[in-house]
Amino acid sequence: MSNIPAHGGKLINLVNEAYSTSHIQKEIELDAVALSDLELIAVGAYSPLTGFLTKKDYDSVVENIRLADGTVWSIPITLAVTEEKAEELQLGEEVRLVKDGVTYGVLLVEDVYVPDKHKEAQHVYQTTDEAHPGVKRVLERPSVNVGGKIVLVKRIPKDKFASYRLDPIETRQKFQELGWKTVVGFQTRNPVHRAHEYIQKAALEVVDGLFLNPLVGETKSDDIPADVRMESYEILLENYYPKSHVFLAVFPAAMRYAGPREAIFHAMVRKNFGCTHFIVGRDHAGVGNYYGTYDAQKIFSNFTAEELGITLFFFEHSFYCTKCEAMASSKTCPHGAEDRVILSGTKVREMLRNGELPPSTFSRKEVVEVLIRGMKQQPVNV
Ligand code: ADX
Repeated sequence: MSNIPAHGGKLINLVNEAYSTSHIQKEIELDAVALSDLELIAVGAYSPLTGFLTKKDYDSVVENIRLADGTVWSIPITLAVTEEKAEELQLGEEVRLVKDGVTYGVLLVEDVYVPDKHKEAQHVYQTTDEAHPGVKRVLERPSVNVGGKIVLVKRIPKDKFASYRLDPIETRQKFQELGWKTVVGFQTRNPVHRAHEYIQKAALEVVDGLFLNPLVGETKSDDIPADVRMESYEILLENYYPKSHVFLAVFPAAMRYAGPREAIFHAMVRKNFGCTHFIVGRDHAGVGNYYGTYDAQKIFSNFTAEELGITLFFFEHSFYCTKCEAMASSKTCPHGAEDRVILSGTKVREMLRNGELPPSTFSRKEVVEVLIRGMKQQPVNV
């Protein structure tokens, strides 16, 4: 078992498939994001959370990036219901948490409150602009939050990526089996391009293992779909990564696009999966121009190393430099923009659509082939 303590000290386990729900009449319908959050709370990925946030914790997370007891926590994990549903609920009662007619969990109703969504957007996303995909989701949610402890009574069927869905207890076990004492976690919602590979391998030079942990929950529609990405990771690992030092598993959460706040969240979750280190590069979890290039690194300076309990690896903007004839970063390369192969995600998608191949200095040809095939099958998204 990885020796690193879970965030807050104890790995939470609230999975109990024997839990009887037959006596519980009332139910709350979950959307896909709430369902994935429910399971991630239950399996300890969100340790120390034991449920959806009550008002005291919600206010504290929004305002102070901490739970009410002071533990660092940056993203409010909330369950929203309509006013009509909220009126039905009694404090202290249990409700079933349901999706498409299936009961996945039980919530003990400890708190029912109306969040100030604009304040949440401003503090967590640094904007109230509805064009921001994370803010849009917050503002579109029903207007009342229900907080309280949960139990997961049924696992979500592992239909997609089954062999890559591991709970924190399992990844911790895996890292131990592999003999890794130090493990660096890598979050991604993109194909692994050369810049990603460069920072992953630079990190791997100084730790025992790399935990490639792509997010496969809800993403915005123009991000590359998770199944295409998974194929591209498999082919890349097969051809360019040492099997004894790399482990791939999915992170089934939704993307929030909350930049700095989400970087903290991503790091704490990877600590729960057993990572001792976590990579934060340029514009981590960013979208559009809402965040400064290194804001997601700077935010960590507000906390002590003990509070974070995971070591951060910060990387500057990386690229291939034609003069260096190597991958490099703005820290290590003295040359100018004209020598650097830098392409935006939008530009790459445009090239792929026009049948143009991005250069191998930007992305490995095996990865490009998978993306082009994926684009043909899912032309709207890629
Ligand atoms: S993210 O939304 O999951 O952060 P992405 O998959 O692009 O998006 O990034 C994964 C990680 O790689 C993040 O830590 C990000 O900061 C880092 N990263 C992505 N591209 C670069 C780059 N060219 N240079 C340095 N870091 C990068």
